[in-house]
Amino acid sequence: MSLSKFISANSIRGFLADDEGETLHRLAKEVAAIGPCLEVGSYCGKSTVYLGDACRETNNTLYAVDHHAGSEEHQVGEEYHDPDLYNDREQCFDSFPMFKRSLKLAQLTDWVVPIVSRSDVVVRHWATPLGLVFIDGGHSHEMALADCMSWSRKIAEGGVLAVHDIFPKPEEGGQGPYLALEAVFDAGGFERVAQVNSLGILRKIRDTY
Ligand SMILES: C[S@@+](CC[C@H](N)C(=O)[O-])C[C@H]1O[C@@H](n2cnc3c(N)ncnc32)[C@H](O)[C@@H]1O
Repeated sequence: MSLSKFISANSIRGFLADDEGETLHRLAKEVAAIGPCLEVGSYCGKSTVYLGDACRETNNTLYAVDHHAGSEEHQVGEEYHDPDLYNDREQCFDSFPMFKRSLKLAQLTDWVVPIVSRSDVVVRHWATPLGLVFIDGGHSHEMALADCMSWSRKIAEGGVLAVHDIFPKPEEGGQGPYLALEAVFDAGGFERVAQVNSLGILRKIRDTY
């Protein structure tokens, strides 16, 4: 997708397919009148650029939450470790420099607010009703469930919850995000919207809290 006149989303390292990114971009534009957007799990900024570009077009704000220390699979020796993202001086994985570079190249710094912290710390006192929440942080059952349950409560009526890596069949992928999205649906207050590739989408139809 020629997402931005400043940077191609495909030039950013990440784990999002084109159709998933385009869907996030469209959803973020649709909910702009409802509230700001927030993502959990930015990595090098691929999803951030899709969502942030929609926020620029609608003069909205994206809060991009990531501790930038990487998930389990990004650590040294693990399947998705990228040596370019290893900070030799600090002796740790660190995606924040690459993330900042993506934001700068895409000229999105006026529309994206990076929050370098753990998701559970950020959500604790979060009070602004959100138009869109995109969850793509820790993929274990425990972490995906905690993110989906806690952040879904912060979505305004009419706003959407989008979760990455939804695989209803265990043979196709890990079950953490799928079971977490189902738990939000079962808790009530959301309707199913669609699934685009591995992006599952719910819309809040009423507040149940
Ligand atoms: C799969 S990557 C995100 C990919 C990104 N959305 C993209 O489009 O390429 C997962 C990210 O979640 C972050 N993460 C994992 N657990 C987290 C937590 N509890 N709080 C904040 N960030 C977390 C990791 O640091 C990592 O950058």
